[in-house]
Amino acid sequence: MQARFLPALPRLPDDLAQILLDDFEFNRVKLKGSLDNCARFKSFFPSSDQLALKERRKQIPFTSVNQLGTLMTQIENAYDKKLCDFNIIAVTSSVVIEWLRDHKLCDDATQPVVQEFVNGEFFPPHVDLHRTNAINYCFELGGQHVTTDFWQPRKEFAHLAVSPRTAFPYEKIELIDSFKAEIHQWFRLDTSVIHSVENMNLSERRIGLTMTTPKNLL
Ligand SMILES: [Fe+2]
Repeated sequence: MQARFLPALPRLPDDLAQILLDDFEFNRVKLKGSLDNCARFKSFFPSSDQLALKERRKQIPFTSVNQLGTLMTQIENAYDKKLCDFNIIAVTSSVVIEWLRDHKLCDDATQPVVQEFVNGEFFPPHVDLHRTNAINYCFELGGQHVTTDFWQPRKEFAHLAVSPRTAFPYEKIELIDSFKAEIHQWFRLDTSVIHSVENMNLSERRIGLTMTTPKNLL
């Protein structure tokens, strides 16, 4: 199974959720103009952040001839529906981080971040760069019908490389699973499988916490 709920995990208390969202907005304003644009729709916490550094340093061998996907930086007009903007900002609130640690949802090795998908209908099929699994939590779903869809390369394209930082055309992949997250529910995703966010409402946003799954929950 590519995604499943983790019903035993507690809901993030409302006051902490509010702190986290205020923190996100505060950092967004503070960082305006200094976000590191990896692609048109992808912005990261400032250059000193570990995640951004790691992202930038990692060299992805890329030869277009043997790749299933197209570089994320070159997909602006590759789809016939509207790509969303994607913002990732690290959680800086110590009370939130403390709560997550107390509930063993993150450890020293985990960087909790808030991710926001906004102004678009979908986030394209991709695999994650840093991690093979994630634990997520939504504050806003981005619409009533939003799903995280999982894909595999179609048989005739199975020999092509599936690389992070690339996005895959729908013609070359087939749907294998579809997961509908619920608000205030922790869930786990296998992010090594090709996945996309689909059916977002243009006037809504999808925002939530995401972290690499800590060892105790693997
Ligand atoms: Fe992802």
